[in-house]
Amino acid sequence: MHYHAPVTEKVFWIGTNDRKTERFENYLPLPQGVAYNSYLINDEKTCIIDTVEFSTAGLFIEKIEGILKGKKLDYVIVNHMEPDHSGALLDLMKYYPDAKIIGNIITLRMIKAFFHDFDESKFITVKEGDTLDLGHHKLTFAMIPMVHWPESMVTYDITDKILFSNDAFGSFGTLDGGIFDDELNFNFYEDEMRRYYANIVGKFGPQVNTAINKLGGLEIKFICPSHGILWRRDINKVIQHFSNWANFTPEEEGVVIVYGTMYGTTAKMANVIARELSWNGIKNIRVYDASKTDHSFIISDIWKYKGLIIGSAAHNNDVYPPIFTLLHKLENYGLKNRFLGIFGNMLWSGGGVKGIKKFADALPGLEVIAEPVESKGEPTNEDQHKLEAIAKAMAERLIAERN
Ligand SMILES: [Fe+2]
Ligand SMILES: [Fe+2]
Repeated sequence: MHYHAPVTEKVFWIGTNDRKTERFENYLPLPQGVAYNSYLINDEKTCIIDTVEFSTAGLFIEKIEGILKGKKLDYVIVNHMEPDHSGALLDLMKYYPDAKIIGNIITLRMIKAFFHDFDESKFITVKEGDTLDLGHHKLTFAMIPMVHWPESMVTYDITDKILFSNDAFGSFGTLDGGIFDDELNFNFYEDEMRRYYANIVGKFGPQVNTAINKLGGLEIKFICPSHGILWRRDINKVIQHFSNWANFTPEEEGVVIVYGTMYGTTAKMANVIARELSWNGIKNIRVYDASKTDHSFIISDIWKYKGLIIGSAAHNNDVYPPIFTLLHKLENYGLKNRFLGIFGNMLWSGGGVKGIKKFADALPGLEVIAEPVESKGEPTNEDQHKLEAIAKAMAERLIAERN
């Protein structure tokens, strides 16, 4: 039993929806699931572009058999070797032992690292601009190194003008019925697309820009990524989103306040700042307890808004552990173009505020907009005024950017 999911006449979406896996890469929660998109071109020569994650390999093979109906599979293109796309490759090779595997020179090295007895005679090495003739369809390849692995590449169908972009332009969230942007409600996906970008590709903004510039010369009628929505009506929308995120350009005015608290004092301070931001005319305010909300959702909102205010209790002369995780990832990703406020709480030697200041010093693209506030135990009236001053300074800076 199969549903029909054609992209064009001979090109089919044969992806799978994963609503079982709890965490992507075993650490990022998947409340809306994830789709592993794969494509089959049923031409004179048959070709699959990327496979799926191992857990859905059975369904994947069923889908292929349902379309090929005994016809042989000639090629499998491996745009990216990460297991969410290569997990079903071994199974596929067992079902279709004559299929040639296509990738670049780095892909081959990775395949051999994953599958030690891989038969190299099955591999066809392609480089930038090489073409593959399937009969009606002609494909070509472009390298997009570090979007987000060194072997990452895209496949372009010259005939139907389809860009098989792999992880570029991807998203979390399963494809619940609709597969194309004009068949579904983008509002269901926008946050998950940003969370996917910020947490998976986020470190590689410059490489994403290089890839977008390189691919900008192609006439593209379809963008078919390896996760989430397929684009055909509003291609510029997804390109614009990825381009903004790659440049750390905030989407709208707003502030993320994230705090780490053990007994509630730092949380109290966060609420004072939030209330004062509101008094000063800011509407988009998201307050997060770093111990409760998974960091990937907080990071997604940090990508969305220009204002960021971080608070931490002191913990063993350092920042509170969940805040440490967040700071570490943001520093690793090179967060920039954000206004930053800092606050926290201590009793004897501190560590929370000190740690956030160190983080700010390491990232020149962050602008600390007010004097950090560190209360000793319960915040005093003076502390409260200083917290309000952070909020006022933040609101002023944000409002000054309105046009
Ligand atoms: Fe990947
Ligand atoms: Fe992926």
